[in-house]
Amino acid sequence: MKLKSLLLIVLAVILYQHGIAQNTFNPQKALLTTIQKNLADADAQYKRMAGLLAPDQFPKAFHPKEGKMETSNSSWWCSGFYPGTLLKLYEQTHDKALLTEANRKLAVLAKEQYNTHTHDLGFMMYCSFGNANRLNPKSEYKQILLNSAKSLSTRFSPITGSIRSWDSKPTDFLVIIDNMMNLELLFWANKETGDPNYYKIAVTHANNTIKNHYRPDYSSYHVVNYDPKTGAVKEKKTAQGYSNESAWARGQVWGLYGFTVMYRQTQDKRYLNQANNIAKFILKHPHLPQDKIPYWDFNAPNIPRALRDASSGAIMASALLELCRYTSKTDGQFYFNTAQTILQSLSSPRYKSAPGTNGGFLLQHSVGNFPAGTEIDVPLTYADYYFVEAMTRYKAFATK
Ligand code: GLY
Repeated sequence: MKLKSLLLIVLAVILYQHGIAQNTFNPQKALLTTIQKNLADADAQYKRMAGLLAPDQFPKAFHPKEGKMETSNSSWWCSGFYPGTLLKLYEQTHDKALLTEANRKLAVLAKEQYNTHTHDLGFMMYCSFGNANRLNPKSEYKQILLNSAKSLSTRFSPITGSIRSWDSKPTDFLVIIDNMMNLELLFWANKETGDPNYYKIAVTHANNTIKNHYRPDYSSYHVVNYDPKTGAVKEKKTAQGYSNESAWARGQVWGLYGFTVMYRQTQDKRYLNQANNIAKFILKHPHLPQDKIPYWDFNAPNIPRALRDASSGAIMASALLELCRYTSKTDGQFYFNTAQTILQSLSSPRYKSAPGTNGGFLLQHSVGNFPAGTEIDVPLTYADYYFVEAMTRYKAFATK
């Protein structure tokens, strides 16, 4: 009997040390109630947004002062978020009007499956058709996703060991940290077809991202420029951040989310360690505000008066609500509590749009591209998408 107890204790210690102790998290009743209200409000907001859009247009941002909706066609990197959010909301509210609108936009978006000029096919096609296929699997959706994965794979170079992010002059090969978010589509294609090439591309890209995008403190550069002929790194710099050496907030959270997905897909501890280290960089950063909604760049010069980026907060909350399941009890609780604080902050009037305002967007105050002077302090589709995802992930803890 004594031996049995001893063995159980040893097993528990081993499990704990390997970060696979069963974590149990207790969602707060009050926040669950707030989330139900947020989702009901979101249903009404997105129906309002649908009424403001031309049939072939996708929402990009809303400019409250001018009362003007900014839209794009289907080739913009964000075109998948609107149908994706509609589908995630439909899953929660069962409101058929949302599904009808999602289907209308999916029909417009489908042609992007053949777009080989962007690395953003993961965002565009997996957040949209990936959700459509998850909710209602269909061969038509699968084919679109497979063609999208094929198109994305054409951008991989075995010399740089990376997927090309942005088209550029032939002597450059630009890879941005955001690209980590497009790999999930490749894992899906690997499982669907059994073709190991998709898996290899995703893993090779992720390994080179660890090697070349990350600094010793686990903050990341936004852009790495490789020599396409030799694979050597030519420069490390920013495009959307404050400076080449700064930590652009969204880049940090794309990495956090991306490496959490890498661990889910491969069970390789290297990716779990990377995600944990990125989380520590973000959560222990002296410039992370108390409400846990990051400034648009952790090194923005005018902190604490710098603009916040609600999209980074939403992406971080969603990532942490997955990562907390994989890690040690102490870290997991820290991540869960932080995600909870973010959801509380985003649900407050400071960030959540009042019903009937903001062109139907759910969240205010995101920053798209500060250096370019575009989408500054506006609602953005990806802030909404990951806010809805984070809320549904939080809700899922209540049903465990
Ligand atoms: N480049 C994608 C983003 O703004 O996060």
